Amino acid sequence: MCGIVAYVGRKNSVPIMLEGLKRLEYRGYDSSGLALFDEDNNVKIYKKEGKLIELEKFVSNTNKDLFSTIGISHTRWATHGVVNEANAHPISDPDGTMALVHNGIIENYKDLKQNLLNKGYKFKTDTDTEVLVFLVHYYYQVEKCLTKAVQLALKVVEGTYGIAIIHRDFPGQIISAKKGSTLILAIGDNEFFITSDINATIKHTKRVIYLEDGDMVKINHEGYEIFNSDNLSINPEISEIDWDISAIDKGDFKHYMLKEIFEQPISVGNAFRGRLADELNTVRLGGLSASYSDLRNVKRIQIIGCGTSWHAALTGKYMIESLARIPVEVEYASEYRYRNPIVPDDTLVFVISQSGETADTLAALKEARAKGAKVFGITNVVGSTIARETDGGVYIHAGSEIGVASTKAFTSQVTVLALLAILLGRMRHMSPNDGLIYLEELKLIPEKIEMILAQNEQIREISKSIANCTNALYLGRGIDYPVALEGALKLKEISYIHAEGYPAAEMKHGPIALIDENMPVIALASKDFLYDKLVSNLQEVIARKGRIFAVANEGDELIATIANEVIYIPETLPSLRPLLNVIPLQLIAYHVADLKQLDVDQPRNLAKSVTVE
Ligand code: M6R
Repeated sequence: MCGIVAYVGRKNSVPIMLEGLKRLEYRGYDSSGLALFDEDNNVKIYKKEGKLIELEKFVSNTNKDLFSTIGISHTRWATHGVVNEANAHPISDPDGTMALVHNGIIENYKDLKQNLLNKGYKFKTDTDTEVLVFLVHYYYQVEKCLTKAVQLALKVVEGTYGIAIIHRDFPGQIISAKKGSTLILAIGDNEFFITSDINATIKHTKRVIYLEDGDMVKINHEGYEIFNSDNLSINPEISEIDWDISAIDKGDFKHYMLKEIFEQPISVGNAFRGRLADELNTVRLGGLSASYSDLRNVKRIQIIGCGTSWHAALTGKYMIESLARIPVEVEYASEYRYRNPIVPDDTLVFVISQSGETADTLAALKEARAKGAKVFGITNVVGSTIARETDGGVYIHAGSEIGVASTKAFTSQVTVLALLAILLGRMRHMSPNDGLIYLEELKLIPEKIEMILAQNEQIREISKSIANCTNALYLGRGIDYPVALEGALKLKEISYIHAEGYPAAEMKHGPIALIDENMPVIALASKDFLYDKLVSNLQEVIARKGRIFAVANEGDELIATIANEVIYIPETLPSLRPLLNVIPLQLIAYHVADLKQLDVDQPRNLAKSVTVE
């Protein structure tokens, strides 16, 4: 949801910010803009509706000579106000002396706007952000101190913000502050950056400070100063990033999504590497080790997430209930946070989030904590808000995921949940021998994923007959059901084809009415005790002329007589099956969207991390 890049240094900020915004475009891509000082120290704002390329073209065609060693910039995902140039950030004050970029939401903007209207302010945008800009302007008139004005303005706003401000009266300075929205200070060689994600600045420096809620930072060419919420000057620890720019390059792949799908043999391996305690046939999860006694005594688990992370959570439920026999409730974060959830004693709560920034998940975390629960995180982004707010947790180590449609994060989340299920199982009834069987099979998963990826061309061919459909049904039973949901979500998100995931046997209770010769049914026909029942469900599809695309296990000859197309995948243990079954579904979604020539990595209306409600 919106990305911020700001720069102070010796170089021209314009190309640095444009390149940084490119790396943040996944956060929002409906408009973008930047603000700088001209040679007379006037604040100049340049902004464009549409993807970043529009701003880049505008700068390179008509404003080639833009130069400023200090600047702020923004890529937007609209919340308040339609997508147009006026509503794009930076937003200016009435005098044009100040520019501000904002990531977050000012929840009480209506009341504040009315007060400002009463004071004579005239609004030029429909954004909530303009209220904040005008408040700073107002307090600056009163206090004659910009820092104080920003602090006073931030005191009256409710909601979330990561902001960066430049002002004509302080041409060498950026003021930045955060609450609820990630903001990072990146420290280079005589240069400083403010960013919503280190992707934007990793090329320039690996040294960062993760700002805390309530922090305000002032940067100029000489250095930076950070103040905490009590207005005390603080000196937070500088963290060193342990990866470099090559990790976020698209390489030879046409899209990030395809690259990320193909990274899964490695990313899944990274999720379990160093965590298999072979000598004890169990699992070691360092981030939870301090809470092993809680894990041993837990009576109930709640796993909370959104979107694909919720699907991973549901997969985790099947795994944990099967391997550890602990009841698991899976919750949508957006529902959990508001419905006064019941959190009995001896419940452990896990929040799961790739970005670690999802607003609903963060709020659910706080709600669970308020109910007295211990809350653990399963996150990808190191140092993210959720990772820092939880009582402990496990990183999935998937590496940077740029494609808006989550792929490798899902399989890494599921791998970590499998580890958790084995650990909990071994703390209970699972025998050392069964533990060993799971560990050994887990080690084979990367190579089995490779075998599925090797069928990419065949899957592209199969996808051609799905690409012209308007609806699709995904069916699976047992642990294949969450995978069906995930397959349907992937198709919806990037190909704009309406798709639903169903437990196969539920089809006859309603969705069967939709089936005709135009309806592709993507069926997860895994060889297990429910296989025959699944086949019966598929016969019901055939009887209504539906077209079946099956994902089945190697050697399954029966399925070839039923389905129009079959993608064969290796067999594995039932609880680990989602790690394989999801791969063909990711590839189908990718190829369908690509065949339709859609923007795979930046699908319409979506953003990678949803930091607003
Ligand atoms: O970063 P998170 O895992 O918390 O994000 C949750 C969802 O917004 C995310 O999974 C979304 O559904 C993806 N676009 C799915 O591909």
